[in-house]
Amino acid sequence: MTALLDIATAAALLRDGKLCAFPTETVYGLGADATNADAVLSIYETKGRPRFNPLIIHVIDLAMAKTLAEVSPLAERLAAFWPGPLTLVLPAKPGNGLADIATAGLDSVALRVPNHPLALELIRAAGRPLAAPSANPSGRLSPTTAEQVRSGFDGRVPVLDGGPCTSGVESTIIRVDGDRLIQLRAGALARAEIESVIGQPVELAPKDAAIAAPGMLLSHYAPRAAVRLNTQPRPGEAFLAFGLAPSWTGPTRNLSPSADLHEAARNLFSMLHELDASEAPTIAVAPIPFDGLGEAINDRLERAAAPR
Ligand code: TXA
Ligand code: MG
Repeated sequence: MTALLDIATAAALLRDGKLCAFPTETVYGLGADATNADAVLSIYETKGRPRFNPLIIHVIDLAMAKTLAEVSPLAERLAAFWPGPLTLVLPAKPGNGLADIATAGLDSVALRVPNHPLALELIRAAGRPLAAPSANPSGRLSPTTAEQVRSGFDGRVPVLDGGPCTSGVESTIIRVDGDRLIQLRAGALARAEIESVIGQPVELAPKDAAIAAPGMLLSHYAPRAAVRLNTQPRPGEAFLAFGLAPSWTGPTRNLSPSADLHEAARNLFSMLHELDASEAPTIAVAPIPFDGLGEAINDRLERAAAPR
């Protein structure tokens, strides 16, 4: 992978469900088509990330953001910082086409317009929103040059080279909650600057708040139903099966009849939603192996089952 990647080739990779790292003003992102569940899953596989956090979805402009989220007048004023290092967490628009795995099954979505010409050209050429966490293996430092991305992944990930990032710190994440603004992650845009432009205080999310960082929370994606793990269903319960499963008369979904962890990960959030909608008081979940994506699947299930 020595040849320089151009925008058209990078966009074609992304449209084809492949990953491509790209520059933003904050850090390099490991991008995937946010509407393609398999592509988003390869982000987790490539990063070796043990849990499915909701990802930031990168768009070209406010108009594209409005196709994915409900943008209130207050949110629209914050969009004055776009393109720029500000991520807005907004209510998701139903049927927005984003893969469940990209938003970790939440009914909100984190959006930003990166302030980098190559990033914007790439999203435009790909013609779809791009999910992109920092382009580093899990637990390592965020990369601010293409070379760091290449060496971090041993050359396995194609990188669109846009030179060094100007900011080097990830974007500031603000949740717009009615007429309140809550900072979920400090970042490259100072809170005071947001306050002075918008003319209202930006609250800090309490460290233990359910909204703080959904990926970190013990009880995060909590279905309405109680969840029992590593088990078989009892009468009255819904059943989330994996692999060969005994037939069950209650509401049932099988994460992967062939016991494929990639397929299971792809189905995880949507099947939990579906079983929750069945109104069974409890969802029993079959044992899932811990290898590969199984670690992230089990992490999410443990959070869904955590005491609330
Ligand atoms: O600067 C950046 O923001 C970089 C560059 C590549 O753009 N991207 C980045 O993305 O840091 P990512 O996907 O790693 O950020 C994920 C974080 C989650 O850990 C969570 O805190 C927050 O974004 N997040 C995403 N969706 C959310 C949601 N629906 N509600 C609350 N927080 C959310
Ligand atoms: Mg990161």
